Amino acid sequence: MKTLFTGIQPTGNLHIGNYFGAVKNWITMQYDYKTYVCIVDLHAITIAYDPGDMQEKIFNLALNLYACGIDKEKTTLFVQSEVPGHADLTWMFNTVTPLGELERMTQFKDKSRHNNKNVNVGLLDYPVLQAADILIYKAEVVPVGEDQVQHIELTREIARHFNSRYGKIFPECEAYLTETPRVMGIDGETKMSKSRNNTIGLLESREDVWKKLAGAKTDPARIRRNDPGNPAKCNIFSYHKLVTLKEEKKEIVHGCKTAKIGCVDCKKKLLKNLFQVLDPIQDRYGKLILEKKAIIEILESNAAKCRQTAGNTIVEAKEKMGLKPIWKI
Ligand code: AMP
Ligand code: TRP
Repeated sequence: MKTLFTGIQPTGNLHIGNYFGAVKNWITMQYDYKTYVCIVDLHAITIAYDPGDMQEKIFNLALNLYACGIDKEKTTLFVQSEVPGHADLTWMFNTVTPLGELERMTQFKDKSRHNNKNVNVGLLDYPVLQAADILIYKAEVVPVGEDQVQHIELTREIARHFNSRYGKIFPECEAYLTETPRVMGIDGETKMSKSRNNTIGLLESREDVWKKLAGAKTDPARIRRNDPGNPAKCNIFSYHKLVTLKEEKKEIVHGCKTAKIGCVDCKKKLLKNLFQVLDPIQDRYGKLILEKKAIIEILESNAAKCRQTAGNTIVEAKEKMGLKPIWKI
């Protein structure tokens, strides 16, 4: 069985961009791979955050993931900072990573533009920690959204640099994408993201989601009710592609192009189909909240398991790098 690794930051409840862009794959793939899902708190501290909220966010993310369908038996879900090997391997990788590669990362450039009062070294080093996360478990498959592909390519390069300098111990991993690796925000302007305030949350009420859909832009050329629309230019239709079945989708395309279906009706259909997915997630979330103690125990024992595996890789890397004390050999 190949190893799969992925990570997610504890920055709040999940949204449909996370779900259809990445998490959905984690749920289907966990049965075919040895699967690790990591709550990456060490990545989350590279931008402004409230230390008082952190533990609640971590636990809540675990609940969100289990509610989506992460299987407690199949997936090792754990908290990054509980496994010190990740930071150890980051330091080793720092010494084989060209600075120029980190400076050209799109996410680094974006984040340093948005947080220009706190452009810290951690923000630059972020992808090296990500490479250490993946490679410490020798994972070959990394299911993520499109925004992470560049980091996975860099991970491959770091593995190559390490292997050629010290001897081969790390595999070359590959990003694995969903059918919609970039879900657009409700504003229709950029990708859906908490920092842009343009999300549809998995745990939002029907009323709140309807308010967002009701105000959302459609095909800009469809001004009056009787104007024909173009689904390819409509953000609402991009969401239908995520949740609406083939036959109904065909009817919507036809109805939109011939102005037989208005935008309000189209949005109502979307709301109904979206909640076919969200209702069961919200139900499971409601039940999981009552199992706090059991979930904490799982996270603890998963971290202990990871410390073992990660520790083995650290010993191997130290050996290759000449860092294993002679009296231990
Ligand atoms: P984050 O919340 O940034 O830690 O992202 C968790 C996962 O969701 C990563 O694999 C991201 O690539 C993915 N993701 C986040 N936002 C989107 C989006 N709008 N479309 C597709 N994938 C996304
Ligand atoms: N950088 C990723 C994100 O923002 C999260 C992440 C950290 C990750 N380590 C990882 C994803 C390792 C995949 C593999 O979404």
